[in-house]
Amino acid sequence: MESYDTKRPARKGWWKSAVFYQIYPKSFQDSNGDGIGDLNGIITRLDYLQSLGADGIWLCPVFCSPQADNGYDVSDYRAIDPMFGSMEDMERLIQEAGKRNLSIILDLVFNHTSREHFWFQEAVKSRDNPYHEYYIWRDGKEGTPPNDCEAIFGGSAWEYVPSLGQYYFHQFAREQPDLNWSNPAVREQLYDIIRYWKNKGVDGFRLDALDVIGKDVDRQIIARGPNLHRYIQEMSSEVFSDGTLAVGEAWSADVPEAREYTNSDGSELSMIFQFEQNFVDQGETKWEKKPLDLVRLKKILASWQTGLHGTGWNSLFLENHDLPRIVSRWGNDGPFWNQSARMLAILQMGMEGTPYIFQGQELGMTNCRFCLEECRDVEIHNFYKAGLAAGKDPAELMEAVWFIGRDNGRTPMQWDASKNAGFTEGTPWICVNPNYPSINAHAQMDDPDSVFSCYRDLIRIRKSHPVLLNGDFELLEPDNETVFAYLRRLGDQEVLVVCSFSAQNEAFELPDGFEDAQTLISNYRGRSQTLRPYEAFMLLRTGAEKQPKKEPAEPEIIKDRKAD
Ligand code: GLC
Ligand code: CA
Repeated sequence: MESYDTKRPARKGWWKSAVFYQIYPKSFQDSNGDGIGDLNGIITRLDYLQSLGADGIWLCPVFCSPQADNGYDVSDYRAIDPMFGSMEDMERLIQEAGKRNLSIILDLVFNHTSREHFWFQEAVKSRDNPYHEYYIWRDGKEGTPPNDCEAIFGGSAWEYVPSLGQYYFHQFAREQPDLNWSNPAVREQLYDIIRYWKNKGVDGFRLDALDVIGKDVDRQIIARGPNLHRYIQEMSSEVFSDGTLAVGEAWSADVPEAREYTNSDGSELSMIFQFEQNFVDQGETKWEKKPLDLVRLKKILASWQTGLHGTGWNSLFLENHDLPRIVSRWGNDGPFWNQSARMLAILQMGMEGTPYIFQGQELGMTNCRFCLEECRDVEIHNFYKAGLAAGKDPAELMEAVWFIGRDNGRTPMQWDASKNAGFTEGTPWICVNPNYPSINAHAQMDDPDSVFSCYRDLIRIRKSHPVLLNGDFELLEPDNETVFAYLRRLGDQEVLVVCSFSAQNEAFELPDGFEDAQTLISNYRGRSQTLRPYEAFMLLRTGAEKQPKKEPAEPEIIKDRKAD
């Protein structure tokens, strides 16, 4: 073995200055022509990630899985699904990534397993099987579930097993039975899986659906359950206290709770993924589209910035594999595609926290209007079926899918203008977005005005300006409905970030002292009297007078993931 170990990030809190790149392996790079991205494909693209300036990779699940939910239904946490390659490929990926100073973050789905996991296979055999108590069971009669808990992917959260006369609980699809975290043997098994991967040289973990592990199903308390923080603290002291990165997915988190999750004594997690901003353009359910309320978005992001500054730690993300493409959602994927994609990059990378860039976000990849047969996501199909059954208009259902459906973010990575965007020689498992001949990495890497160059420059700028890493945050013009502007301040350095969300020219007056400031980055050449469509820039001035520190804003309580 080569000695890449010495280069690995041993420093406590190393992830605070890092930028992570999220890979959805199925759609990143296929190496053997079966139409499915794989580990060897990823290895061939590591240089690309290095040229972007990423420090690490969050790899969505590559473990053995029947793929009922694209790998978020794991049947063996210690084995690589043959679809993605072998354990040797995984070890080689860790090693090759390490050579390029890229750390690997694995995605652990510990709220539930697949029904095909050995534990569940045993658990259904009989009530006295030693693995029975690994899952959540309630006695009952067929057709009368224990209560009306609903699954996130639709229908009842209870599934009947006639041979046992019992129901098992599943928060997501019925193929994803929830683990019984109140059983200490389950928790010990899970910690052991973490130890196993740490021994292989993995630097951190994203913990899927973490906010629902402490649930109390009888009282129908799912997210933020009574045992949640107790379990996290136990897990943290068992396996994370050595500086391992741990990021928990927490749809239900608000600012006060995030302080608990990410408190600086390190007793819980490095950071969480929170989703409060994700609701600003949605109605009662995620499928209901509303216009973006920029004032509200600013208020929310500002409350996270000021609320965790000095007391916790933020993650910064605009996209992931569960969300649509941000340029289609909050930007403009028509005439101002380039400017708005760069504007959103500047917005994200100017804030305090650890940025995550989802594959293709750095190219400004857009949403894709699939017909239903082309959709691959279990959530979309369940939503559509339930909608039809409720008598809804199919055309409206498809509009909702195009707005927020998860397949928008899951189309193959657009590498170049060749067949299938350079993703595969075979037939891709999900269609390639037809705009790949114009939107692709090859076309952007050497173009200084591309979305890719903007992300690459922003990563470099963040690393060379401590004010962007650690400065405090002040929202400017909170009531301005088209411009998102904020200040970051550290010592005598001040950075002004201005982002227009408008397709028209907008008036904006620079705050005092910024007239002659240095431009760190901008999505237009030169400056004009007004802000041009989706114009964005970062200005730096030094020698600023010290401003009194603001009190953190009081956050609001937000909806729970049920609304998702
Ligand atoms: C998380 C994942 C999502 C998955 C779900 C169930 O939300 O990000 O993709 O479907 O958990 O595991
Ligand atoms: Ca493949």
